[in-house]
Amino acid sequence: MSEIDRDQYLIKDEPYYRPVQNEVVMYEAAYDARMPVMLKGPTGCGKSRFVEYMAWKIGAPLITVACNEDMTASDLVGRFLLDINGTKWQDGPLTVAARIGAICYLDEVVEARQDTTVVIHPLTDHRRQLPLEKKGELVQAHPDFQIVISYNPGYQSLMKDLKQSTKQRFGALDFDYPSADIETEIVAHEGHVDKETAEKLVQIAQRSRNLKGHGLDEGMSTRLLVYAAQLIGKGIDPQSACRMALVRPLTDDPDMRDTLDAAVNTYF
Ligand SMILES: Nc1ncnc2c1ncn2[C@@H]1O[C@H](COP(=O)(O)OP(=O)(O)OP(=O)(O)O)[C@@H](O)[C@H]1O
Ligand SMILES: [Mg+2]
Repeated sequence: MSEIDRDQYLIKDEPYYRPVQNEVVMYEAAYDARMPVMLKGPTGCGKSRFVEYMAWKIGAPLITVACNEDMTASDLVGRFLLDINGTKWQDGPLTVAARIGAICYLDEVVEARQDTTVVIHPLTDHRRQLPLEKKGELVQAHPDFQIVISYNPGYQSLMKDLKQSTKQRFGALDFDYPSADIETEIVAHEGHVDKETAEKLVQIAQRSRNLKGHGLDEGMSTRLLVYAAQLIGKGIDPQSACRMALVRPLTDDPDMRDTLDAAVNTYF
């Protein structure tokens, strides 16, 4: 199926990614082995940015699928569509990736039902095959095909977790919010603010992260810090910017909002 335009999935410009640990080297080695990789970490900590950066660095096409619980195996694999000439098979994103040798990034894969997730099993072991049962075709994955999934540990209920037989098909890299100096660098770069402002935002976030499990499900993410910085960069006063980008998204609880607003006020 060479009519698929592989180039449309290439990332043209270098995405900004600030390495945090040894994740770049580890991923490159895993990619060389075409090992399926799982990225674990809280929301907004850089997982998607990392995949974009690695795809660019390797020069591999990237196909991203946002998973949700309504997703079916057909959404991944493909289906017959009706058109004026009758029925026509349309490859799903996973099939396209397997054919062209792309990195297929399944974002938030635990959201998908387990009967959906199992379609990746034959692709993620020595077989590297994808059976298109409805079409009666067995797709042998392109040698460059790789699967990457992301996953927020801790958000799962027992009902919603990956099966061991799925988990144990992946090498895993842990992601977390970076150390203060690295996060400051990221926020200053992405939010176009000076280092001092970025530093204060990071300190506020660190306070909120200490409240995780004590009234907050999750602390402020790097993504939210970038939002706050962007508002400040647009000339919004820092307190209002932090309220909108850091505090209000996080919680509806009035006491917790007061606590977080007070933390903001000690820095700005
Ligand atoms: N190491 C990093 N280098 C560069 N930018 C980063 C880094 N970490 C986080 N960011 C910034 O944080 C934002 C959010 O990161 P990203 O979208 O990759 O999060 P995520 O982990 O995929 O979150 P989610 O689980 O919610 O999808 C990015 O748009 C980027 O601005
Ligand atoms: Mg993401």
